[in-house]
Amino acid sequence: MCGIVGYVGARDCTQVLLDSLAKLEYRGYDSAGIAVLDNDVITTCKAQGRLANLEERIRQQGGIKGHCGIGHTRWATHGEPSDINSHPHGNAVVSIVHNGIIENYKTLKERLEKKGYTFISQTDTEIVAKLLDYYYNGDPIEAIRKTEARIEGSYALGILFRDFPNTIYSIRKDSPLIVAKGDGEAFIASDVPAILKYTKEYYLLESGEIAILHEGVASFMTLDGDPIEKELLVANWDMEAAEKGGYEHFMLKEIHEQPTAIKTTIAPRIVDGMPDIEECGVTLQMLKNFNNIFVVACGTAMHAGIVGKYVIEKLARVSVTVDVASEFRYRNPILSPDDLVILVSQSGETADTKEALRLSKDRGAKTLAIVNVKGSSIAREADYVLYTHAGPEISVASTKAYMVQIAVFYLIAFELAYAKGQIDEDECRRLTKELSSVPKFIDVILAQKDNCQYVASKLVNAENLLYIGRGLDYALSMEGSLKLKEISYIHSESYAAGELKHGTISLVTDQMPVIAVVTQRDLFDKTISNVKEVKARKAQTFIVTHQYINIDDDVADYKIGIPTIDDMLMPMLAVVPLQLIAYYTSVLRGNDVDKPRNLAKSVTVE
Ligand code: F6R
Repeated sequence: MCGIVGYVGARDCTQVLLDSLAKLEYRGYDSAGIAVLDNDVITTCKAQGRLANLEERIRQQGGIKGHCGIGHTRWATHGEPSDINSHPHGNAVVSIVHNGIIENYKTLKERLEKKGYTFISQTDTEIVAKLLDYYYNGDPIEAIRKTEARIEGSYALGILFRDFPNTIYSIRKDSPLIVAKGDGEAFIASDVPAILKYTKEYYLLESGEIAILHEGVASFMTLDGDPIEKELLVANWDMEAAEKGGYEHFMLKEIHEQPTAIKTTIAPRIVDGMPDIEECGVTLQMLKNFNNIFVVACGTAMHAGIVGKYVIEKLARVSVTVDVASEFRYRNPILSPDDLVILVSQSGETADTKEALRLSKDRGAKTLAIVNVKGSSIAREADYVLYTHAGPEISVASTKAYMVQIAVFYLIAFELAYAKGQIDEDECRRLTKELSSVPKFIDVILAQKDNCQYVASKLVNAENLLYIGRGLDYALSMEGSLKLKEISYIHSESYAAGELKHGTISLVTDQMPVIAVVTQRDLFDKTISNVKEVKARKAQTFIVTHQYINIDDDVADYKIGIPTIDDMLMPMLAVVPLQLIAYYTSVLRGNDVDKPRNLAKSVTVE
């Protein structure tokens, strides 16, 4: 979603802002802009579309000189993508960039109009800029404080006041913002990758705190004006992690990073061959005593939860309910202090997941977050956190984050099954060892990726597609289908293979390719029967299954064979071809793989 950057220091501010915005491109955006304060003048430049458009416009303007400025990539919520709706917003006196949503903007707008203000954009952000202007009488903090008291919703703001050279003000509520510290320079950013080129040291701004970046030095205060000492954090991601490193796209790079991500995520949680997640504060005893487990998340993270459900239920015999966060919030869930709610999120900032967490806590349930981004809101607010160590995921389509989320679910399932006495120590050790062997098998699949390229070449002209599977294979089909549709723009559905006959098979023709995931050997014959049913209706069929299993030509047009491990762990292998098929199909269709249309990396609005 929207990205914020800001810079005060000796460097050429425009260049720093553009560099930093480029690092936030992955969040998804449809327009961009900057405002630079120099010699008592705020110069603004904005452009719809990619950053290249903004760069070109700045060049046409003859460049923008200065050492203090703010920048923004906008993902439209209020008002269409356009030059006018792009940030920064403001006037000659005050200029702002904003992430989040101002919920009471209509009321505020009416009031400001009565006071003679006119509005040129359709955004909620312009209201904040005008409100700051209205309250400003020479004291920026007073204007910020009064504005803050009027606005409702979520916001992270970067603010320039014409009368205060070399100074950026910032405040936030429910939208993340970091303040980074360089050598005689300071930055604001909505996300760590934006500042990695310049520094790794940063502070997390908390809701209700004001940051003042003056002459390259950051200081903090409460809304009442009391100074705050903040802990300086050091990012453990490096620039390389946020660069493509020779790959054509971040998505391909991140697919290849999966073996390492799994190792980094599980190694610290395997002690003497046994799973051990106690580091997060959840002991074996606690794990055993939870009455119900809920998994709540969105999109791909929710799909990881579905794999978690199958595995926990199968091994530990504990029932698990998986909810889409936007539904969970409003279905008045029945929760008690004996329940565990697991929130899964790569970014740790997804609005619906965050609200589901707050609701669960309000109702007394214990909350465990499986999160990738350190210090993110969900990680900080949950009772317990298990970080996934995937490193920064830049491509909008999630791959390595999903992989490590399911790796964590396996550890939870093994430990819970052992705690419940459903598996003995030998079995727990065996499963944990199998899990540790996954990375080397993924390397084997990655070495054969031309199989997936071939399948992509067969799918490239399809308009509709079906993914089918049973059990864990069905859970995986959901993720395969989402991955394909979000980056290739081909309509696809995932279906429980046995459910097809109950309606959907009427769609199957020679124009409806079907990808079947068939890794669960106890369900093999049943799924193959379903594949035969679609084949009989002339569908082109592609099967992802064990390498050693032969599939007759009259069943599958093409087979992707993958190595064999315990069936329970097969999703970790089978998802890789599904990711690669989606990737290559998107490439062949000439799409912007890492930044698919209409999508944002971190969905911070409801
Ligand atoms: C799809 C994808 C999304 C996210 C979803 C949740 O590839 O990435 O479906 O999984 O928006 O995001 P997080 O995990 O950040 O909460």
